[in-house]
Amino acid sequence: MNILVVGSGGREHALCWKISKSPRCTKLYSAPGNGGISEVAELVNIEADDIGGLLKFAKEHKIGLTVVGPEVPLVKGIVDAFKKEGLKIFGPTAELAMIEGSKVFAKELMKRFGVPTADFRVFDKSDDALKYLNTVEAPVVVKADGLAAGKGVVVAKTIEEAKAAVKKMMIGKVFGEAGERVIIEECLSGEEVSIIVVSDGSNIVPMASSQDHKRVFDHDTGPNTGGMGAYSPAPVVTEELFKKIIDDAVLPVIKGLEREGRPYKGALYAGIMLTNKGPFVLEFNARFGDPETQAILPRLKTDLVDIIERSISGALAGFKPEWDPRPCVSVVIASGGYPGKFEKGMEITGTDAAKPIKDVFVFHAGTKAGRRATDKDKVFITNGGRVLNVTALGINFKGATDNCYNAVSKIRFDDMHYRRDIGQRAVDY
Ligand code: AMP
Ligand code: GLY
Repeated sequence: MNILVVGSGGREHALCWKISKSPRCTKLYSAPGNGGISEVAELVNIEADDIGGLLKFAKEHKIGLTVVGPEVPLVKGIVDAFKKEGLKIFGPTAELAMIEGSKVFAKELMKRFGVPTADFRVFDKSDDALKYLNTVEAPVVVKADGLAAGKGVVVAKTIEEAKAAVKKMMIGKVFGEAGERVIIEECLSGEEVSIIVVSDGSNIVPMASSQDHKRVFDHDTGPNTGGMGAYSPAPVVTEELFKKIIDDAVLPVIKGLEREGRPYKGALYAGIMLTNKGPFVLEFNARFGDPETQAILPRLKTDLVDIIERSISGALAGFKPEWDPRPCVSVVIASGGYPGKFEKGMEITGTDAAKPIKDVFVFHAGTKAGRRATDKDKVFITNGGRVLNVTALGINFKGATDNCYNAVSKIRFDDMHYRRDIGQRAVDY
């Protein structure tokens, strides 16, 4: 069948790479895709949130399955629009994508279903939020309710900082409508892990555990980013802890929504903090994680298309995917300046040398295919903040990390930046 993958990041390249190997896939399209994806799929020049355009394309090209990477089209109702036209699509409806699209929706749902999460209060007036901050102690966390491209959370070390965040969101409206309501919540501490499952509305298939690296510089310093690297599995998540997270944090949501008559289908990502009181949910996302997916999919031996089709048709009960036991490490190479201002258009060299290394995968994020002005050779040029996800398997974390950084060392572009310590926590564990 013809398959369409919506999105243009490293996660979508990993999805396309995996899907392109499925015997179920005859032709793969990606909208809008990126330079690396163009090597495994035909790129379609339609933006990921242009639901009308994507629907028209899917009908015209007899797309048998659409897989959505990012959250924005899900929140905007791509699944509803495709389903209405009888088209098969993977992901939750707009109503349930609000589990990511509104932090208030997610927190209220967690409260209703007894999922452990930080105590919180919701405010829609800045005066009330500021007054409330006079009654609590720092540290405290301020969150914009809506989507803010990963920038809507401030972990404030002082009450002044928290008040400044409230003012920025509610009065300065830096996130527009997304910051008109805020949550002020208890600050938790502990190690963070990502647990992603695929649900068919009633049953789930867990993906392997993983850990992200959110800060831009080594040793978790500098500002938060969309993620500077990931590895899978997360060594802190023992089998017993994995089961506890699924039982306490994930299944109550899936079963609770099913009971409410609105089954959740698609990927569900739980951002978990392992506190000394047990695992607490920091957030839910309505999709696969980025960059976690890049470290998870190389370990998945089962056909992803089979899992996705079972999610849509409600056939995940008793299904067990097969995993490569070897760990996987994925390092993000970013443009200098990211997550602040950065330049695009730099020529990337060395991906050809990195790709053939055994057990290495070079997933592209912000790249596009271009031509050198002088000799017309095809080259990749930088086209975003996070540029490449260099990924490697290894016999253990040390092996995977060494393999990954060896591949990274082949790659160059002006002003490139990457963390040198991705995977180190797992090596030292
Ligand atoms: P979120 O988008 O809600 O996952 O928040 C982004 C990041 O903010 C998380 O990955 C955590 O590092 C941090 N964070 C969110 N909520 C809390 C909390 N209640 N306590 C401490 N840190 C938090
Ligand atoms: N890696 C964090 C996210 O996908 O939201």
